[in-house]
Amino acid sequence: MRQVHITTFGCQMNEKDSQTIARIMASYDYQVTEKVEQADLILVNTCSIRQKAEEKTYSLLGRLKQLKNSNPGLIIGVGGCVAQQEGKRLLERVPHLDLVFGTRLIHQLPDLIEKVRRERSRLSRTEMDPGEPYLNPLPAVPGFFQGVKASVTIMQGCNNYCAYCVVPLVRGPEESRPSQDILSEVKTLAANGVRETLLLGQNVNSFGQNRMGEISFALLLHRLKKIPGLERIRFTTSHPKDLSAELINCFGRIANLCEHIHLPVQSGSNRILRKMNRYYTRETYLEKIVQLREGCPGLAITSDVIVGFPGETDADFEETMDLIRTVQYDDLFSFKYSNRPKTPASNFPDPVPEEEKSRRLNELQAYQKKVTLSKHQAMEGTVQQVLVEGTSKKTTQDWMGRTRTNKIVNFPGPSDLLGKTVPVRIEKAYVHSLKGSLE
Ligand code: 5AD
Ligand code: SF4
Repeated sequence: MRQVHITTFGCQMNEKDSQTIARIMASYDYQVTEKVEQADLILVNTCSIRQKAEEKTYSLLGRLKQLKNSNPGLIIGVGGCVAQQEGKRLLERVPHLDLVFGTRLIHQLPDLIEKVRRERSRLSRTEMDPGEPYLNPLPAVPGFFQGVKASVTIMQGCNNYCAYCVVPLVRGPEESRPSQDILSEVKTLAANGVRETLLLGQNVNSFGQNRMGEISFALLLHRLKKIPGLERIRFTTSHPKDLSAELINCFGRIANLCEHIHLPVQSGSNRILRKMNRYYTRETYLEKIVQLREGCPGLAITSDVIVGFPGETDADFEETMDLIRTVQYDDLFSFKYSNRPKTPASNFPDPVPEEEKSRRLNELQAYQKKVTLSKHQAMEGTVQQVLVEGTSKKTTQDWMGRTRTNKIVNFPGPSDLLGKTVPVRIEKAYVHSLKGSLE
């Protein structure tokens, strides 16, 4: 069997795409290897959300040059968001690269690789409408459905055009997958032992809107709740403007829907939200937070924030801090604004100096760290239902699992706990995890 090594940068969509690639390549007799020096084929699945993410691709490709020199038969391919964004330019910039494939061409990968091999040519293919839907059901390969958790892509692309964001450009327009396909995939997963599913899309709240006669996302959740063996459902990501009352009402009412929502706010200033093309205000966002908590008091809420968007003043940033103090998020992912090619904001005037962006980011992160820790400390002494996912990162003697609110819990226990949900008493809180013992 030939060996393929896959490196993944970026978000959960990319992680999922890499799993799909592994499955497709497995049906063409490629086995995944962790050892890059043993590979006949190296694939890099890339991210371009921020400049730093994009740079990772170039530095990895630089390091791969030596391998190509010592093994001329080696094929190196780049897919994902940098591939889509750069296309042929990537081949020009990286002479030892063989193949560039866009975000919607995953299903054609075996053919493209064969073509490169046969013709000894260098290829770049980035068309957005390849004819065959990217979300087609995949060939069943035994062994690919194993694990406690599995992600299921329910839609691709994005129609929102937030001013800072490269995603609509590199992932194309929004397209929902038929709900029947999603339901049957989740059923198969649950029947094969998967306990938790994460529904993936750039904006799952608008699921179905672009497909005639399709059910809403909330209704999809109601259908999924009936699948035997499926203990937990999560989803990501939600756009606040599309978070409907129907969906808010699902929390606390659908037994296997976990008490956690990731609801990116990006900024607390209405002026900046308008410039970002977000189509909500801090007031309507905060109103939705209130409704979510009224319907489901224990709900964990996390978010994304960008600091230093062009023209962001001290007063705008203070509004963001004020919103964060008001919401008291369980956790936050915060980023310095990064200028992305061809996005609407790329030529907005008044860039915020790098040092100022860092100052704001530090202030925000220091505050959030305190909030996260104090929320974790408030859990000390409580008993949580923990779904065991694997062994702890720090010591393989401990198990690692998550609460329904998505908090990581490490604890010692017998060897047969994988995939089980067990009660754990929380004994010690840290910023990124909790430590406990079996009840
Ligand atoms: N600069 C900084 N952060 C960004 N994000 C998206 N685009 C940019 C950018 N150009 C952040 C947003 C989004 C998360 C996935 O990445 O907060 O929600
Ligand atoms: Fe994911 Fe966006 Fe990065 Fe692409 S650019 S990998 S969609 S975060």
